Amino acid sequence: MSIDRTLSELVSRMPQSGIRKVFDAANSYDDLADLSIGEPDFATPEPVATAVADALGSGISSYTETVGRSSLRAALSEKLSAENDIDVAPDSELIVTPGAMGALFAAVQVLCDPGEEVMIPEPYWPNYRGHVASTGARVVPVPTDDNFIPDPADLKTAMSEDTVAMILNTPGNPTGAVIPPDRLEALTAVTADQDIWLIADETYEDLVYDDAIHHSLASQDHAFDRTVTIHSFSKSYAMTGWRIGYASAPSRVINAMRVLQEHTVSSVAEPAQVAAIAAVENRHVVTDIHEEFAVRRDLILDRLRTIDGIDPGSPKGAFYVFADISDKNPDSRAFVERLMADVGVAAVPGAVFGDAGEGHVRFSYATDRTTIETALDRIERLCS
Ligand SMILES: Cc1ncc(COP(=O)(O)O)c(C=O)c1O
Repeated sequence: MSIDRTLSELVSRMPQSGIRKVFDAANSYDDLADLSIGEPDFATPEPVATAVADALGSGISSYTETVGRSSLRAALSEKLSAENDIDVAPDSELIVTPGAMGALFAAVQVLCDPGEEVMIPEPYWPNYRGHVASTGARVVPVPTDDNFIPDPADLKTAMSEDTVAMILNTPGNPTGAVIPPDRLEALTAVTADQDIWLIADETYEDLVYDDAIHHSLASQDHAFDRTVTIHSFSKSYAMTGWRIGYASAPSRVINAMRVLQEHTVSSVAEPAQVAAIAAVENRHVVTDIHEEFAVRRDLILDRLRTIDGIDPGSPKGAFYVFADISDKNPDSRAFVERLMADVGVAAVPGAVFGDAGEGHVRFSYATDRTTIETALDRIERLCS
């Protein structure tokens, strides 16, 4: 017998991601040049795959410590110290999570209460909205400039006595914006005496181009004590399906995330943790992936710049171009529908990333060069 009772109130508060809707619509087309997916098309790097294959026979199929294997945490703390200038105690200030997603979800659960506010520069990755909504808190969007960088003055305006946290994502999805170190400092300074948590989503840390430098927010003076920094293996190493990432933060936050993780995923799958150890030990594999992305970035930017009415801007990071298409059509959803139905190109409407994203379209270049070329031929045809 079916049951009449409605599902929990949480279900209505947590919207499905608009990116997922594009994937679903794309399924009904046979010949699609797909620039919608934020997932590298490479296989897991060889040293990682080999390490896991070798270890499989020796029974790496157990629960591990909730916060992750100690050998992995030791390797991650070394990497954080050497590359991110963040010094953490591996036993108390680090947790291995199911992707950056798992870290973000856990972080907002332990930091936010109903009625509180979380500031996020807009346009932003829509999953943040779901994470924040799941706690009963709400997102307060912060405007950004023409290069999608937030201004400290706007942050000040967005702050209220209910503000509990700010999420900063650099390099950014969907915009590809990389917040320069001096701006990062200015943004942190505005929140310094306000009792506000900082959540630094550095999922795309390895993917910066031209003269851009990735700078970790928690490396700034006194910032670590109020920052949760989130990293991932998904994008740098093409390891999306392994579902592994990590968070570093003050011990009371990590401890709370540990208890939450104890009740949800228990621990990240052990083979994924073995893969992650091999990845950190073979950090050089990131270079090849980065080089290929740099070529694809030039390809897509050079060609988009020749199309009248489309302004791709100058994204410095991640693997996205957040192009201004407002001269063609101010309605990004309508533009993307035409792209898909008329010429067979999948992309994500800017409006999915908040009101400030309207008039833009996100093109991902995490796909092969032939697909990118085909998509650009088709976009040209639509726009000529
Ligand atoms: C900005 C941002 N943060 C976090 C994630 C989640 O990454 P992961 O695969 O590590 O869960 C993504 C994935 O698209 C992302 O774009």
